[in-house]
Amino acid sequence: MDAEPLVAPGGCIGIVGGGQLGRMTALAAAALGYRCRVLDRDPLAPAKQVAAHDTADYDDMAALERFAAKVDVVTCEFENVPVAALEALALWKPVRPGPRAFAIAQDRLPEKDFAREVGFATPPYRAIAAESDFDGAAYPAILKTRRLGYDGKGQARIASAEEGRAAWTRLGRVPCLLEGLVDFEREVSAIIARAADGALRAFDVVENRHRQGILDLTIAPAPIAPARAAEAQRLAGAAAQRLGLVGLLAVEMFVDRQGRLLFNEMAPRPHNSGHWTIEGCTASQFEQLVRAVVGLPLADPARRANAVMKNLIGDEVRAWSRLAADPALKLHLYGKAEIRAGRKLGHVTRLYPLDVTPDPRSAFP
Ligand SMILES: Nc1ncnc2c1ncn2[C@@H]1O[C@H](COP(=O)(O)OP(=O)(O)O)[C@@H](O)[C@H]1O
Ligand SMILES: [Mg+2]
Repeated sequence: MDAEPLVAPGGCIGIVGGGQLGRMTALAAAALGYRCRVLDRDPLAPAKQVAAHDTADYDDMAALERFAAKVDVVTCEFENVPVAALEALALWKPVRPGPRAFAIAQDRLPEKDFAREVGFATPPYRAIAAESDFDGAAYPAILKTRRLGYDGKGQARIASAEEGRAAWTRLGRVPCLLEGLVDFEREVSAIIARAADGALRAFDVVENRHRQGILDLTIAPAPIAPARAAEAQRLAGAAAQRLGLVGLLAVEMFVDRQGRLLFNEMAPRPHNSGHWTIEGCTASQFEQLVRAVVGLPLADPARRANAVMKNLIGDEVRAWSRLAADPALKLHLYGKAEIRAGRKLGHVTRLYPLDVTPDPRSAFP
């Protein structure tokens, strides 16, 4: 036998954030004999239905200390956790991934700088802190708030410096990043796990299709050249390594019309584009995260089936009984009480044999 894990089965994983990613992490942890405790300020956070839980603000130091006392290791399921909360938790228990990965991923400027240091190409970008910063940039472009954007929120497409200044005012004149608009052939993502001993295990690269800035479909594997997919995995691994991250790193990229890979953004946590791994791989992204944080050897991330995953967003979830009745589909619902436009309420996965190319148009009739 190898060395004892940091946390043996029966131990407790603290999960900061109680959304669907935390919920699916807790379910995977349970399958390996671990308990989870979720911390979220929302008493109705969906992960709280499947784990022990605390309700507190992330800047409540006494609550953080109480939470830390009840867990053996801490991980985080959402990107915009205050870094100070992770730093505080790290005083008491190992935090995996550590605060640094979150600090970089939370701000689009250091995030893009970091990607370039690792060797990724990126779209052209510049910081916006004054009206004159729009002069001389390449247009069309996309203006993004540096912090707190998700699902396409905090973004505006602009065709000129004039439009940029107007859009910046609408975004509250907060610090922004201006990026060249990529005329991409497709969007792809890579999810890689890194263990405390530096071992790296990548899931297959997938294609992602968005609607109104929100992930709609993931197609596994991405129909791209094997060399391109290998490059995406290698760069994601280099990023995880450079961060010294223990856990998961998801990297969103564009493939442009010339077939080049361009970094878009990264997240040091499970990713929506990895949900297909629950049925499609020997071990899911959630199991892999659990293994990394407790110190078990990483699992084999091999793809067992091709897959298309569709998010159920807003009203789409009302089809749940029809989807549940289709024996070829695997339905996941997140236990969220309220249906709201743009809210991720579940997802559904269709599997295909490894030699069949998934067709997203016919996947969900
Ligand atoms: N530079 C860009 N060029 C073209 N499309 C983009 C660009 N940046 C973002 N997008 C589109 O907007 C989506 C959301 O942007 P992203 O930066 O990933 O923010 P979020 O944090 O909201 O996911 C992307 O998945 C892509 O479809
Ligand atoms: Mg994104």
